[in-house]
Amino acid sequence: MIKVLNLYAGIGGNRKLWKNVRVTAVELNPQIAKIYKDFFPKDKVIVGDAHAYLLEHYNEFDFIWSSPPCPTHSRINFSNGGRWKYKYADMHLYQEIIHLKHWFEGNWVVENVISYYEPLIKPQKSGRHYFWSNFTIPKKDYGVQIRTLMHGTRKKNIREAQIPELTTLHGFDLSKIKIKNKRQIMRNCVLPELGLFVFNCAYKVKQQTFSTKKEVEA
Ligand SMILES: C[S@@+](CC[C@H](N)C(=O)[O-])C[C@H]1O[C@@H](n2cnc3c(N)ncnc32)[C@H](O)[C@@H]1O
Repeated sequence: MIKVLNLYAGIGGNRKLWKNVRVTAVELNPQIAKIYKDFFPKDKVIVGDAHAYLLEHYNEFDFIWSSPPCPTHSRINFSNGGRWKYKYADMHLYQEIIHLKHWFEGNWVVENVISYYEPLIKPQKSGRHYFWSNFTIPKKDYGVQIRTLMHGTRKKNIREAQIPELTTLHGFDLSKIKIKNKRQIMRNCVLPELGLFVFNCAYKVKQQTFSTKKEVEA
């Protein structure tokens, strides 16, 4: 079984479709970590700081996925101005990329949003994500899936998706869970199919790259 470290795990969007893996997940928010544990009871879930955990434990794993928080890098927050104007772009992101690139011998991927500034290290781009990685991730158009989901709703764009659309899109039902910011927690999820696609790229599993239609930003 592949030993995986899933950092900044959220409720596990990227992890949802991984099979035959032994996963250690790190999430700072105990309520979110509990939801993750309920969805993935076999995973080891650590409530703590993913950045610190990475440095201490990276050499215990075969594959590392890291999804550091994106608000200080995001184009949307930049264009909205407001409180982000007074925050530095969080360089933990680049610390992790540099560390993994130079010290980690397994497969790794760091995922984030497309930034409002020119990225300091060249990423690969797919949909609304930047990926930094030591393997190639072909561009994947998951716009068809998103358009299908949005069809029949009054929303036209994934950014406007509310909890029902997000529930269908990611396949996580949080209806019985009491937690604030449910929509944001769901919006944070990487599309499970994309999480699987990226994981399979690391191990060169033959897979479809979906359609060649113009990539839409999700
Ligand atoms: C973008 S979300 C991750 C989404 C996840 N990759 C998925 O696909 O569902 C980032 C998560 O990191 C958590 N987080 C923020 N700072 C953290 C830290 N220092 N250590 C661990 N988790 C942290 C947040 O609570 C949030 O759930």
